Amino acid sequence: MPSPLALLILLAAPALAAPVLAPPALADVAPDRAARLEHLVVQDCGSCHGLTMKGGLGSPLTPEALAHATPEGLAGIILDGIPGTAMPPWRPLISQAEAIWIARYLLKDQDR
Ligand code: HEC
Repeated sequence: MPSPLALLILLAAPALAAPVLAPPALADVAPDRAARLEHLVVQDCGSCHGLTMKGGLGSPLTPEALAHATPEGLAGIILDGIPGTAMPPWRPLISQAEAIWIARYLLKDQDR
């Protein structure tokens, strides 16, 4: 019968040996997918919201215009659209993580 301490070490060993991996963040998308999402934002979202997101048929999607919103709230709008308006749901095309990626992308101040 091994001592309790030996047991503890035995039980803990695999956990110590395993690499400490942080769980993937919700908005993590593969780099090649990120490039495609960026393309989608400019081409598809831009067709209504303006190529520079300053507005057109759709409202402006600049960081200033969206300052009131959270990434999660925006992701919900992107996934489900705004019923009764021209804003379509994108759920058939993108995952929730990707919608949050787009929301963060829109909220991030950057040169476009
Ligand atoms: C067919 C036109 C069209 C396309 C394409 C489109 N939108 Fe929209 N979107 C709109 C319209 C119109 C509104 C404003 C609806 C309203 O009257 O509230 C809107 C509103 C929004 C809002 C809410 C803005 C706010 O101030 O709360 C977000 C976020 C948004 N769109 C994101 C996107 C994203 C991201 C894409 C691309 C994946 C996209 N839209 C593509 C027409 C479009």
